[in-house]
Amino acid sequence: MLGAKKRKAAGPAEAGGRAQWASRIGLILAMAGNAVGLANFLRFPVKAAANGGGAFMIPYFCALVFLGIPLMWVEWTMGRHGGVHGHGTTPGMFALLWKHPAAKYLGALGIALPFVIVVYYTFIESWTLGFAWFSGTGKYFGLTTRDAMGQFLRGFQGVEQNQFFASWLPLLLFLAITISLNYYFLRKGISKGIELLAKVGMPVLLVFGVVLAVRVLTLETPASGVSTVGAGMGFMWNPDFSQLGRATVWLTAAGQVFFTLSLGMGIINTYASYLREKNDVTLNGLTTSMTNEFSEVILGGTIAIPVAVAFFGVVETKLIAAEGTFNLGFQSLPVIFQKIPMGQIFGAMWFFLLFIAGITSSVALTSPAVAFLEDEFKWKRARAVNTVFAVMAACLVLVVAFFKFGFLDELDFWAGTFGLVVFAAIEIVLFSWVFGVKKGWKEMHLGADLKVPKIFKFILKYVTPVYMLTVLGGWIYQDAIGKLLMKGEDQSRHP
Ligand code: PHE
Repeated sequence: MLGAKKRKAAGPAEAGGRAQWASRIGLILAMAGNAVGLANFLRFPVKAAANGGGAFMIPYFCALVFLGIPLMWVEWTMGRHGGVHGHGTTPGMFALLWKHPAAKYLGALGIALPFVIVVYYTFIESWTLGFAWFSGTGKYFGLTTRDAMGQFLRGFQGVEQNQFFASWLPLLLFLAITISLNYYFLRKGISKGIELLAKVGMPVLLVFGVVLAVRVLTLETPASGVSTVGAGMGFMWNPDFSQLGRATVWLTAAGQVFFTLSLGMGIINTYASYLREKNDVTLNGLTTSMTNEFSEVILGGTIAIPVAVAFFGVVETKLIAAEGTFNLGFQSLPVIFQKIPMGQIFGAMWFFLLFIAGITSSVALTSPAVAFLEDEFKWKRARAVNTVFAVMAACLVLVVAFFKFGFLDELDFWAGTFGLVVFAAIEIVLFSWVFGVKKGWKEMHLGADLKVPKIFKFILKYVTPVYMLTVLGGWIYQDAIGKLLMKGEDQSRHP
């Protein structure tokens, strides 16, 4: 908990100024909710399994130490600094670090990127709610093949009309519920909305995650399966060191670390802008990173892939993983739920866990747009939230209507993969070189509960920017050029 002294000191600012987090535990859970998202449970296992299994953890760990954690501190520091000066979004924050007219235009990316992402993220989030319902009510029970489940999924998504879904109505209903819930928590504000959601949602997510992981580990050799969970864990974690020679493995690991920690988006910055001047950022930033890593590596790594191997075998699991992350979560796992005792309950738990992971991230992704209107135009929260949601709903109509043409993949690549690496590179250069590591370090340690080892000064100044720019260069070379020339699509871009 925050000391009474600190709280009192911040009192008047709260009355007249910007909103603030009510408690330290609430802040950490909200930040963890921001980071823990669909990527932890769907994207990570697929990427790890496809890029060397246990060996993937080496580039992953390097990216975490040299990119993820330093950037996490940078975004928290930048965010708190901005908030103290009345700016909750990166245009204002960048302008404080760099006295140049271009700063605020670069910063505008930190509103645009998360907004683009939240439009499709909310759509996927609504599928998880729909599938939680369909699992609990047993609607798809009886569709015991992956093909039949695929048809069910496509019918629901409105990609095709079939015997399972004759209209878009169920999809639109779950989408409407998802949007309304997002609206509700954002409208309620920081401490009474977002913080409350995290305080209730995150413990539930943790319990569901642990229950599902234990369920998978105790399945051993399922009667109706073709392999064992042990073989699945082996497939997931046995290191294949030959993969480390491939540049893409290193790029994929770096991309995953950004994506899962919600970095390079401006959303950590916005959440941190609701801190008080002397609130700790070093220990809190590290704690949220570690909470995310636990949920990603331990929980995310134990559930989907090992169970898929037990029931489908290694060969088919590889095929499933290559088809992308959605097919694993929405098509293959539902087949498995039908084969285990109390599968309706476990299915509902799995999809509801995804829903909580999703909603605690989507409110974060929407926050910069709302904060911008509040801080820079001095709009009331109600007006800001209403406006943002009206625009979002209009954009969602397009995403839903054009989903079958791959609209979502296009947005995901430009904003969710390429955009965040570019934005993170801008941030680290601004912080370490323009503002200067010396000043930055001092700012970061204001009220700090953890003294960061000095070596990180060097890392922040040299290692992170060089690593970042190398990743960016590699990405432009490998992905973006092909993409610009519209060469073959690849599946690895799904969240
Ligand atoms: N980090 C969250 C996730 O893992 C939210 C997020 C989504 C962040 C997309 C950035 C981009 O899903």
